[in-house]
Amino acid sequence: MKISFTINGKAQTVETDENTPLLWVIRDRLGLKGTKFGCGKAACGACTIHIDGGAVRSCSYAAKFAQGKSITTIEGLSKGKDLHPVQQAWMEEIVPQCGYCQPGFMMATAALLDKIPQPSDDDIDENIVNVCRCGTYYRMRKAIHRAAKIKQG
Ligand code: FES
Ligand code: FES
Repeated sequence: MKISFTINGKAQTVETDENTPLLWVIRDRLGLKGTKFGCGKAACGACTIHIDGGAVRSCSYAAKFAQGKSITTIEGLSKGKDLHPVQQAWMEEIVPQCGYCQPGFMMATAALLDKIPQPSDDDIDENIVNVCRCGTYYRMRKAIHRAAKIKQG
C-alpha cells in the first residue's frame, strides 16, 4: 500500500504493508532514528511522536492510519536552529541519563504543554506516563515546569 503524509514539514510517500507499525516506517524507511523502540506494545512511550499535534505511540499505530496526516518526530521538534522550549528546559535541567527514553518524554511533554500550558504536578502525573529505566523522573518534572515558563515567555 502507498501511504502519503507530511513528516517534519516534508511530504513523503512510502510503499509498505498497511499494518506495519508507523515506528518502523519512521526509523527504517525514513531513517529518522530519534524515535525509539522500547516495549512495542504502547506501554513505555519511547516511540512517542505527534500526529496532527497529539502525542501518539507509534509502535502501536498502523501505517495505514497515517495517510494524509501531519507527523512530527523529535527531529522536527525545534524550528530550525531555535530549540523548542522543552529541549531548552531539558538541557538546562540536565535531565537525561542514558538518554534512550528522552525523545519520547520530550514529545509527550511538548504535546502536554500545547494542551495545558501550565501543568500542575497532578496534570504531569496524569499525562506523562512514559517509562524511564534510569529514573530521571525528578529532573523531568522540574524540566516540564521550566519548559512551561520558557514557553510562556
Ligand atoms: S515502544 Fe511504543 S510504547 Fe513502548
Ligand atoms: S534516561 Fe535512561 S531510560 Fe530514561
